[in-house]
Amino acid sequence: MKIPSDVAATIIDPRAYAAGKPVDDAFAWLRKEAPLAVAEPDGYDPFWVVTRHADILDVERQNELFHNGDRSATLTTIEGDRKVRAMMGGSPHLVRSLVQMDNPDHMGYRRLTQGAFVPQNLRKLEDRIREIANGFIDHMAAMGERCDFARDVAFLYPLQVIMEVLGVPESDEPRMLKLTQELFGAADPELNRTGAETTGDVGSGVDTIQSVVMDFMTYFAGITEDRRARPRDDIASIIANGEVAGQPLGHLEAMSYYIIVATAGHDTTSSTTAGAMWEMARNPEVFSRVKANPALIPGLVEESIRWVTPVKHFMRTATADAELAGRKIAKGDWLMLSYPSGNRDEAVFTDPFVFDPERTPNKHVAFGYGAHVCLGQHLARMEMRVLWEELFKRLEAIELDGEPKNMTASFVCGPKSVPVRFKMN
Ligand code: HEM
Repeated sequence: MKIPSDVAATIIDPRAYAAGKPVDDAFAWLRKEAPLAVAEPDGYDPFWVVTRHADILDVERQNELFHNGDRSATLTTIEGDRKVRAMMGGSPHLVRSLVQMDNPDHMGYRRLTQGAFVPQNLRKLEDRIREIANGFIDHMAAMGERCDFARDVAFLYPLQVIMEVLGVPESDEPRMLKLTQELFGAADPELNRTGAETTGDVGSGVDTIQSVVMDFMTYFAGITEDRRARPRDDIASIIANGEVAGQPLGHLEAMSYYIIVATAGHDTTSSTTAGAMWEMARNPEVFSRVKANPALIPGLVEESIRWVTPVKHFMRTATADAELAGRKIAKGDWLMLSYPSGNRDEAVFTDPFVFDPERTPNKHVAFGYGAHVCLGQHLARMEMRVLWEELFKRLEAIELDGEPKNMTASFVCGPKSVPVRFKMN
């Protein structure tokens, strides 16, 4: 069965993700009626849409059968793909980060930084992260009783953490935030570089996206030079001086490594933090429950990751004919893993559309699974836990102070504005 064109158009529409409900409804319909089926929206090559939790895990665990790098790892129009290949000497990728790699490269490149992101090494950062969190809580308190929690706290706190871990000086954080928002917010006229309405994919906006990527690369080329001359204890020094299979990293691969850590490393966590506040301000009962019992904070963090699911999809390409959920997938077929759909799957989650910090178990797929599972998942969890631990000590009451707004985007996104009124001690 082919996915009806209106449903296919909805699940790729940045405005539908901003509104939320149209996407939730479309995926609920797909999970029930066509859980694994082909979409062919205008201007796109056909792709399978994988909507069920179990099928997403099934694809992710077979990383030799379903590759990341053979075609674009994110949804792209035919025109966008043509332009990228023309620019990149036939490659379908503008960047070549872990997300675009398969083995053996993937394993070699991932091993370089993996150790820095395991829980026992992250523990060393916890005191400093707590200090950064308290700085933003003081900033919020100083604003009186109103702020835009997304813009004033949630966007800035994970930004500062990841830039310290990466080794970008504080004075360059605004530039990194702007470039990230221009990249992930390419379809949002309030965030993108041109202020124009676009579909935000690399088809309509490829030249703009390319110029954002070039700006990142110019910046990180400078960082590389510095860390080769003066290595420090940061991720930038590992990337600048690292070797894979006995060779220094390729230029494109090194630049792409910085870019993925510098972008995925804060935007996702910011969206999730803003989304958690949106839910608590909308529903003070949830706020009071967690405030009264800080043991619920890890559950709040996990539920907000499931709730927001800031990464909306990644694509895979079949390397051979295969069978999946009773369907025949042909070699070369393109598949979209829909994380928001997997995280609302009624077969796995009771009342999936209810925000419940006490949800147990909460086996969401927001960090993906398998060989490519999010490198920064433990850092993200720790940052959010620490922020809520500190904030709940001081926050007495919270409510919405206007309508929150989501970004207009369909790849990495979440709330962009969460106006709140609050009381702090
Ligand atoms: C990969 C989500 C935070 C760095 C991924 C993937 C997802 C994801 C869905 C793809 C997994 C797959 O293909 O199976 C999230 C969410 C976050 C978050 C929801 C926060 C709530 C972070 C942070 C970092 C980070 C803080 C900082 C280092 C990466 C990297 C990859 C990745 C480098 C590529 C891994 C690979 O392909 O091997 N993330 N992420 N992410 N994430 Fe995160």
